[in-house]
Amino acid sequence: MLRNVDLPIGAGYAALPLKAGLSSWLRYATLELSMHQQISPATSVSGAIQLPGDKSISHRYAMLAGIAEGPTKISNYSTGADCQSTLACVRALGAATETKDGVVCIHGQGLDGLREPAAALDAGNSGSTIRMLSGILAAQRFVSTIGGDESLSRRPMQRIMTPLAQMGARIEARENRFPPLTIHGGPLHRVEYTLPVASAQVKSCVLIAGLFADGRTTVHEPVRTRDHTELALREFGADVEVDRLSITVTGHPKLEGRELRVPGDLSSAAFFLVAALIVPEASLTIHGVGLNPTRSALLDFLAEMGAQIKILDVSSTGGELVGDVLIRKSRGSGGVRGGVLEKARTAALIDEIPVLAILGAASEEGLIVRDASELRVKETDRIATIAENFQRMGLKIELHQDGFEVPGRQKFHAAELDSFGDHRIAMAFSVAALAADGPCSILGADAASVSFPEFFDTLQRVAE
Ligand code: S3P
Repeated sequence: MLRNVDLPIGAGYAALPLKAGLSSWLRYATLELSMHQQISPATSVSGAIQLPGDKSISHRYAMLAGIAEGPTKISNYSTGADCQSTLACVRALGAATETKDGVVCIHGQGLDGLREPAAALDAGNSGSTIRMLSGILAAQRFVSTIGGDESLSRRPMQRIMTPLAQMGARIEARENRFPPLTIHGGPLHRVEYTLPVASAQVKSCVLIAGLFADGRTTVHEPVRTRDHTELALREFGADVEVDRLSITVTGHPKLEGRELRVPGDLSSAAFFLVAALIVPEASLTIHGVGLNPTRSALLDFLAEMGAQIKILDVSSTGGELVGDVLIRKSRGSGGVRGGVLEKARTAALIDEIPVLAILGAASEEGLIVRDASELRVKETDRIATIAENFQRMGLKIELHQDGFEVPGRQKFHAAELDSFGDHRIAMAFSVAALAADGPCSILGADAASVSFPEFFDTLQRVAE
């Protein structure tokens, strides 16, 4: 059903029409992506799968382990390239890491024990790595530089530079806002900071910097964002207080190495849940998925649309909820209604919007997405890259600056699709291909490995 065609690096680019206004085309043309994945339509999605560890939680565990005292052992650490970038940075800062039998061990150096890296730190494609690690780098006695790939180099960094400057750090950036960042670390002072955008990465950056400041650092959020940092900080021994949308951390805690297990990634599960909902029949169990309430809005949204989802065997690990997610759909029934995403819910589902757009097109009433201008500054401008692939599949979509509207009951036509180097676009449109009227190909499908290297193998196991 799935077939890889490995093209020589650079092949296929000549066929790319250059479109004004779609900057990601240009960005893409400079990436060395080569895998052309063929995907045939499927009639069922079934079986039982387990997913690699949550990307957000893995980043946080690795960074906090690096500044904790003693070793931390992390099982089910994300296999994605982004989390490997974080591990490499932590190592370059002097915390040795080793992986044995799938368990990552990080030898923490304590709050004051990191050392100056020999070269610039490489965050790869990972916004989480550069933004959250900057909170640690800002407090060091040395100067460090951190950058990443072509896509990361176009992502906005003022959002962390502003609060870190208020805490006393001096940061230089390309054009004052883009990576690479040169961070002149030093003693930090506490801050009370109101986030101008809903961003868990920025919140986390400030809270992590607050570990190194005297007194109590408070972040006020406009809406609730994922709280993995708060939970992880507590696990490592920090004092964290949460009062509705305000989070306070006390400086100079004693952080201690721990044994932790990362729950399966719910954002990766989203691709399989939508796959199950757009093919005629489905019976899929996803074991050990993270169900943190600040992430699980996805399941509520799907259930509200009419999806038959059950959660079983819920337990807790490291303060994070985890459980099995079951989804069923029988032939001739089980189609979903559609819905509206706006305000806090858009923020809570921001990473799932590419694949929800596809579900919207297959739904009865379609999907409206509002308040999603953050999609413009993800790994690609996701409103533009969703729209381009929709157009190729003959799907209608109406675009807005901060969202889009997708009519329901649409037919998916076979097409040559493109990841534009964005992992979630690669996976979302691989799922769309299952419902197409013929085989599709996805150029640059290997971008999926940024968060989920096993994606195509797993899809192949469940889709028929
Ligand atoms: C993340 C937060 C979100 C999300 C990203 C991971 C995190 O980004 O899109 O994939 O781990 O904190 P923002 O903080 O920019 O909203």
